[in-house]
Amino acid sequence: MTSPARIVVLPGDGIGPEVTDAARRVLDAAAAPAGLQLDYVTDLVGGASVDAHGVALRPQTLRLCKTADAILFGAVGGPRWDDAAPQSAVRPGSALLGLRKGLELFANLRPVRVDPAMVATSALRPERVRDVDLLVVRELTGGLYFSKPKRRYDTPRGQAAVDTMRYSTPEIERVAVRAFELARQRRRRLCSVDKANVLETSRLWRTVVTAVGQRYPDVTTTHLLVDAFAMELLRRPQAFDVVVTENLFGDILTDEASMLAGALGMLPSASLGGGTLGLYEPIHGSAPDIAGKGIANPIGAILSAALLLRWSLNNEDAAQAIERAVSRALAAGLRTADIAADDRAPVSTSEMADAIVGGID
Ligand code: IPM
Ligand code: MG
Repeated sequence: MTSPARIVVLPGDGIGPEVTDAARRVLDAAAAPAGLQLDYVTDLVGGASVDAHGVALRPQTLRLCKTADAILFGAVGGPRWDDAAPQSAVRPGSALLGLRKGLELFANLRPVRVDPAMVATSALRPERVRDVDLLVVRELTGGLYFSKPKRRYDTPRGQAAVDTMRYSTPEIERVAVRAFELARQRRRRLCSVDKANVLETSRLWRTVVTAVGQRYPDVTTTHLLVDAFAMELLRRPQAFDVVVTENLFGDILTDEASMLAGALGMLPSASLGGGTLGLYEPIHGSAPDIAGKGIANPIGAILSAALLLRWSLNNEDAAQAIERAVSRALAAGLRTADIAADDRAPVSTSEMADAIVGGID
């Protein structure tokens, strides 16, 4: 018998614990029939860790994650910590950034699929969103998020601040390779998004992506400027297959893309590096306004558990079982408050999770 997979669960703050709990139940329900054994270890991150230990991410938590097969992550942050957090070590978001960087998870996969049952819920007209199936590959450990210098300083005329956007050829190359490989498993189209008319980093980005693309002659490569892409994403979202872009552009564009799928709460993500270790989290935040009420949409977290099975545990069947079960629950008309239709009462987080568990075949 193979040894159990080691999953580190980091529920975090706000609705993080609620949606992570739902995801874990669904993960267990999909793992059992697949003969997969999962060992969970739970730890504190974000504001919860600040309260207990004085820092958002302890070194031993990072070490624990390094020895895991996968990390299931909820969300971090909340006004209590964010509003009163001058140093970075006690800002909850720094836990997430520390994990991404510390584990070298440079490729963030954010699939955007519009479920047939959700077509009517989208903010866009049905014919615009039907059959949307794209995959954003966001560079996750470089760019404005991490490059130095990054600081605030005093000047004779008050304060000034600087963030730096830096990319090296190897950083661009490795995420581009990942994106091209993924395009090969899909519809063989790759759109690279940059701001090459203004930014030097984007001109390097375009050069490197073009060079990598020559090794993938079977994949059609296009390049779009980020402002034009933001527009095209709403005008003709069905045209896109794999989209590769730098860190901040990917952050912004995937919140926009979530509106195609109906709500921010629907979208999962996988953060991957060179090996099979991955961190899986919904793209939404900690939603402090609804935390503890049991009404959060768990689907983004549940679909993240499916990605965990796919990318870290190499179990495509179990991953698809979860994705089918989510589709079934939506087709049956179950809706949490964020995606509720006017004519039906919304279900709670745990009712949605129960229905999805029940739909695993
Ligand atoms: C995301 C989030 C994070 C990011 C925040 C919480 C640091 O918005 O994962 O999209 O900006 O990457
Ligand atoms: Mg974001």
